[in-house]
Amino acid sequence: MQRRRFLAHLARSSGIVLAAKASLALASGMEGMSGMSDMRSMHGMHGMMKPSEGAAQTGSTLARSDAIPMGRPFAAPVALRNETPEPGKFKARLVAAPTNLSLIPGVDTQAWTYNGQMPGPLIELRAGDEVEVTLENHLDQPTTVHWHGLPVPSDQDGNPAEAVAPGGSRVYRFKLPDDVEGLYWYHPHPHRVSAEQVYRGLAGPILIRPRHDPLAAIPERVLAVTDLRLTADGRIPADDMMDWMNGREGQFALVNGMNRPILSFHSNGQERWHLLNATNARYLRLTLPGHRFTLLGTDGGRIEQAQPDMREVLVAPAQRVELLVTAVGNDSAQLMAAPYDRGKMGGESATPAMALMHVDFSAVRQGVQPVVPKSLRKFPNLPPAVARKRIVMSESMSMGAMSGGHGSSMKMDDPTMMEFLLNGKSFDMHRVDLRSKAGAWEDWEIVNDSDMDHPFHVHGTQFAVLERVLDGRRHSEPFRAWYDTVDLKSRETVRIRIMQPQKGIRMYHCHILEHEDLGMMGRLRVA
Ligand code: C2O
Ligand code: CU
Repeated sequence: MQRRRFLAHLARSSGIVLAAKASLALASGMEGMSGMSDMRSMHGMHGMMKPSEGAAQTGSTLARSDAIPMGRPFAAPVALRNETPEPGKFKARLVAAPTNLSLIPGVDTQAWTYNGQMPGPLIELRAGDEVEVTLENHLDQPTTVHWHGLPVPSDQDGNPAEAVAPGGSRVYRFKLPDDVEGLYWYHPHPHRVSAEQVYRGLAGPILIRPRHDPLAAIPERVLAVTDLRLTADGRIPADDMMDWMNGREGQFALVNGMNRPILSFHSNGQERWHLLNATNARYLRLTLPGHRFTLLGTDGGRIEQAQPDMREVLVAPAQRVELLVTAVGNDSAQLMAAPYDRGKMGGESATPAMALMHVDFSAVRQGVQPVVPKSLRKFPNLPPAVARKRIVMSESMSMGAMSGGHGSSMKMDDPTMMEFLLNGKSFDMHRVDLRSKAGAWEDWEIVNDSDMDHPFHVHGTQFAVLERVLDGRRHSEPFRAWYDTVDLKSRETVRIRIMQPQKGIRMYHCHILEHEDLGMMGRLRVA
């Protein structure tokens, strides 16, 4: 297995680790060459071999998982204020800037936020709205705002090629179609630094309400889950080598910026949760022990038929779900991210269980009749495909690192020693990888030819999953739903039917943001 050879090779040859670390730092515009000689480089190397010990050995001890106060009352995300009273219009400003937050009491943390909020403020829209958002970039890196999952014109979609320079600003304008609904999100998409901008705090939810909502009577909540790593002295450390390979998972998974808040469940005994996974790489295998979920929606809003009695729901990075939760009795329960093995490299491959939120059902009145929804939405019969595409995801070791030997002989412009590829290629901002016709339905076969899960995302539209093939077994989808991100397990093949409604350049990529930054991304030209 290529990756095992790669790890063994690394363990023997620290020069390569340091060189690659320095070139990564250069590539990401952070730390620069000094990173090569300071302790953070060593930290990266230790992290490679013993993920849990590296930080302690170099003095940048991680904060304890209770360092951010737990058990505060659940609060909805702060809403972004609409500056225009005109009906059907939404106008606002997002300022991306370094911000001092007090996450650990008495300790300052410099995060990067939208409008001072982590996560960014909730944008509440209605289907058909005209949206105008001004971005001001007060960061010292280029940034963009990408409207994840929304069918916005490609020149308004925050593609890496259209970055806003430090100190600059721009206006994003688009009109939502009349049939768009559900939970979406906005986050930066600049070249090579998307992972860093998101893990430092730049990501926010967008809730789009349909014109007619059959479940309007059930109280709804927005839960934006973000990932955070903090040192004991309150810093958000840079990605180390393990993070670049596996995608970053910090010691915190926050809900609306809170560490394990307590949600007092509605007295009616039912709630709808719109949940966003805005983490770089943390898979949320959601469970609420003692309870079952009814799945109401996915990335693209309501599914066709409600799916009752689910014990768990997997929400991969960038995905969203809408869940109906019904109280059973008055006890409390923990919303958990259960262990999930996504084939991570080095050390333990499974992510251990983590409690996300405490749910207190004590206010629930007895004898209230729960609403049992069934048909949620009409789905069209999908038109037949007129074209086919195949996208193969792979990991490999870069030739530079293979042949390198020692630090001095490394090519310093080699972006990394580990490559994450689509159809054998690393991202090129000026290359067109695939072509489609606007309005044409296509079948895409996506193949994960690697040892790790990768969540595959396409910009500008929602697609239907037709079937998944794993270990020679075919699984057709149990219900009809819209997605913009689909997870592929190691060696899994997924077939989707997809149509791009608008012309322009669209990105498709792995949504483990470190992998995206390392080149696991391509460009689709829609003509
Ligand atoms: Cu969440 Cu290319 O995007
Ligand atoms: Cu990936």
